[in-house]
Amino acid sequence: MSDQPNAHLAAGHSAHAATATPYGTLPTASPLPQRRPVSLPRLQEMRDRGEKITMLTAYDATFAAVADAAGVECILVGDSLGMVCQGLASTVGVTLETMRYHTESVVRGLRRVQASAWVIGDLPFGSYQESREQALRSATVLMQAGAHMVKLEGGGWTTDTVNFLVERGIPVCAHLGLTPQTVHALGGYRVQGRGNRAADELMQHARALQDAGATMLVLEMVPVGLATEVTKALPTCHTIGIGAGKGTAGQVLVMHDMLGINLGKNPKFVRNFMDGSTSVRAAMEAYVKAVKEGSFPVDAEHAWAD
Ligand code: KIV
Repeated sequence: MSDQPNAHLAAGHSAHAATATPYGTLPTASPLPQRRPVSLPRLQEMRDRGEKITMLTAYDATFAAVADAAGVECILVGDSLGMVCQGLASTVGVTLETMRYHTESVVRGLRRVQASAWVIGDLPFGSYQESREQALRSATVLMQAGAHMVKLEGGGWTTDTVNFLVERGIPVCAHLGLTPQTVHALGGYRVQGRGNRAADELMQHARALQDAGATMLVLEMVPVGLATEVTKALPTCHTIGIGAGKGTAGQVLVMHDMLGINLGKNPKFVRNFMDGSTSVRAAMEAYVKAVKEGSFPVDAEHAWAD
């Protein structure tokens, strides 16, 4: 069976011929997909055979569909949309309603092209910190908008919340290191987990999150050695690095950054994949290829040694 996008169209399969749909789901208007949807078991299979997981942010229907067509496995509807779509100074001002709107848009686009990507909806600041019940209510909004998983930032106090959501059937991606929603408390966008004490604490938080049932963990701006150690310690929680070196189970970038749509200075961990590409899709394909073959990121260039 081909894993190529739209291979089923070329093969001339007739509409509704492929599989049954459960619980009275309406059949799609065009041929059903031949690509296997990305799922937690499939991500675990990739991890077990050492294949890197690719993730990009997307905030609307079209870019999400193009990222899927380029072979990106996971699409993060990140609250970075506060900066790249809304012009905010940080992610702190993003609301749950805004996240719902963008998650719905992304999912609608993916469904139209019968995409296979795994969609992660980001819980915004203030939507999960109050209590685990508040987190469940907010996660429900994003899951009902079509997300497959929700993401939340922080370690320690979040462990109980993660367990509460996972036990109720909501897959969770955690986020440690530089957590942008707490940028004011952290004193800026700076490398986290430096020094033995901070590194030990991050490792302890990561282990607890895996024990609580988190199946993905974004590690942002964490030294290469620490990110690699955390990855080795977490066989069922897949580390996705951004500024954390190549030792993680996968990589994520903010789409606008990797397409070079940034008038300011790019963070060190970004590569502009539009350089040498003739289309957005080609740039995303180049990103997928570079992550899979291990040519991106380059530790000495895109990450911190300690
Ligand atoms: O909001 C976001 O886009 C993120 C990524 C930077 C990981 O959290």
